[in-house]
Amino acid sequence: MRSPIPVVLAGYGSVGRAFVSLLCEKSETLRSRYGLDLWLRAILKSDGGFISDSRNELESFRGRLGRGPAGARLWRPGLTLKLLLPTAKPGVLVECTSSDIRTGEPGLGHIRSALKAGWHVVTASKGPLVVDLNGLRQLARKKHLSLKYGAATAAALPTLDVGVYSLAGAEILSVEGILNGTTNYILTRMQHGAGYEEALREAREKGIAERNPTLDVEGWDTAVKLLLIANSVLGLNLTLRDIQVEGITRLPTRKAVAAREEGKALKLIGRISKSGLRYKAEVAPSILDRSHPLFGVDGASKGITFATDTMGTVTVTGGKSDPRGAAAALLKDIINIFAVSSN
Ligand SMILES: NC(=O)c1ccc[n+]([C@@H]2O[C@H](COP(=O)([O-])OP(=O)(O)OC[C@H]3O[C@@H](n4cnc5c(N)ncnc54)[C@H](OP(=O)(O)O)[C@@H]3O)[C@@H](O)[C@H]2O)c1
Repeated sequence: MRSPIPVVLAGYGSVGRAFVSLLCEKSETLRSRYGLDLWLRAILKSDGGFISDSRNELESFRGRLGRGPAGARLWRPGLTLKLLLPTAKPGVLVECTSSDIRTGEPGLGHIRSALKAGWHVVTASKGPLVVDLNGLRQLARKKHLSLKYGAATAAALPTLDVGVYSLAGAEILSVEGILNGTTNYILTRMQHGAGYEEALREAREKGIAERNPTLDVEGWDTAVKLLLIANSVLGLNLTLRDIQVEGITRLPTRKAVAAREEGKALKLIGRISKSGLRYKAEVAPSILDRSHPLFGVDGASKGITFATDTMGTVTVTGGKSDPRGAAAALLKDIINIFAVSSN
């Protein structure tokens, strides 16, 4: 068993809480199967943080740590990552703060500071990666550290793992993905006659859609994931401006119903295709034939299909896309930093 690895969690919303619960549930598996002992040292929120020097104290709240009497003892108002880093032995930062795709903050500052201070980083937050993926990757390389972001590219659906590791050496001719559960749920319901507003309301009631679903329904969440996949798997250097984006807000129900009646399916597809030496990236509602690998990906499910020169077409579907799925993807990335690299 290696010595305990300090973990700092930035962001204690739905994903952060699910991550802490998972640390509790999986601690025995982490020890016995991977020889990993993760030690949650601190949890940061926007106005301070919880910190403990005792083993398993923060985990013992199982994601329900609050400002009540027990939590108050551990709460430090105004605690920030910058204040914390110089005082702690480096380990891994788990970045789960709310994401701003224009500025990248607060995650961008967190990730830069952590890498500079010698911490590995796993992140569910997409904003920092949209704003400065190359800079962050360079910084991680320079410091011989890992920066992993599977949780930001479709949560538990393994998009990067398949593209980067499983298809290594193959030329990827195209990528198509259903990368957003909310829009896929809405379109699936519209194919069965529901109006757009009705389907969105249902998605909200089921906890699939966020309170503000604008980035999802206008296609930008899909575009962000496509961007990260394009730049990480294909080595491109796209920005969001290079992706043509059309969402689903203006689609009439009759178009979705007609697709189903013709034995086809209407999906919001993020697509990268190669024409000559150039790649084109776009997000658009698309009609899929029954033979398409993503035809049967319905409801809040997601999927991705890669066409390659030597490995044929490789498709992955499924993977939980809720906070628990994202937390599991963060944990998977941590395991792959510490356990796999020591094999
Ligand atoms: N929800 C999902 O299923 C899912 C899936 C994949 C990826 N993601 C990404 O994961 C991230 C977290 O999602 P979520 O659903 O957990 O969001 P959330 O519920 O809104 O939680 C965000 C957390 O970030 C904290 N925060 C904001 N500014 C901060 C700062 N400067 N320092 C420290 N903490 C700060 C908030 O603190 P307060 O508690 O003080 O407000 C809150 O605890 C987002 O970037 C999201 O896009 C989410």
